[in-house]
Amino acid sequence: MLNIALTKGRLEDRTIELLKKAGVDCSPLLNKGRKLIITLEDKYSIIFAKANDVITYVEYGVSDVGVVGKDTILEMNRPIYEIMDLNFGKCSFAVAAPHNVNIFTLDKSTTIATKYPNVTRSYFESLNMDVDIVKIEGSVELAPILKLADAIVDIVETGKTLKENGLEVIRKITDISARLVVNPVSLKLKAAEIDLFSKLLTSSITK
Ligand code: PRP
Repeated sequence: MLNIALTKGRLEDRTIELLKKAGVDCSPLLNKGRKLIITLEDKYSIIFAKANDVITYVEYGVSDVGVVGKDTILEMNRPIYEIMDLNFGKCSFAVAAPHNVNIFTLDKSTTIATKYPNVTRSYFESLNMDVDIVKIEGSVELAPILKLADAIVDIVETGKTLKENGLEVIRKITDISARLVVNPVSLKLKAAEIDLFSKLLTSSITK
């Protein structure tokens, strides 16, 4: 049995779509009710979890593989392998601010609000910029509006949330998409199963 952790929410539908396209019978996932562990075809044991937890389950090896966004992989920076770009859930990390605020030319100390403090820290360190970081759990766009921060670092998909809240991208940091991650020990112990599973996904990504 291959233990698989999938990210619930934003990536959930696209992940199920990919599995279906790969020929996996996903009907038990569509009527799962409140059940937390679902078996598919007597081969795959599936759990749905929050993105950070997917990484934790894969790191500790209770899940052999996981599907999770590159944003969470970068932020958590844990010892797991990223073996495939699944080519969906595409968005980017960006620095955004209210119109006419350019934090790169501000001559005062700068405060950045974000759900991703580690990514933010290393990005600004790479630019040799000293910034204060405030961790916000959701709707981070509020922080500059409420004057808690000068700018934000966040994921941008359509750009709609920024636009509707008077913010704009001032720097793109990097592209993001869903990735297949693997526990390093599982990759040895379940090499054949993981190889088969990743080939199955590859064939449906390119279809
Ligand atoms: C993400 C992100 C932005 C929004 C960007 O939030 O933090 O707020 O999506 O998407 P857009 O560019 O298509 O508008 P999410 O919906 O995951 O909710 P959260 O802020 O509560 O984490």
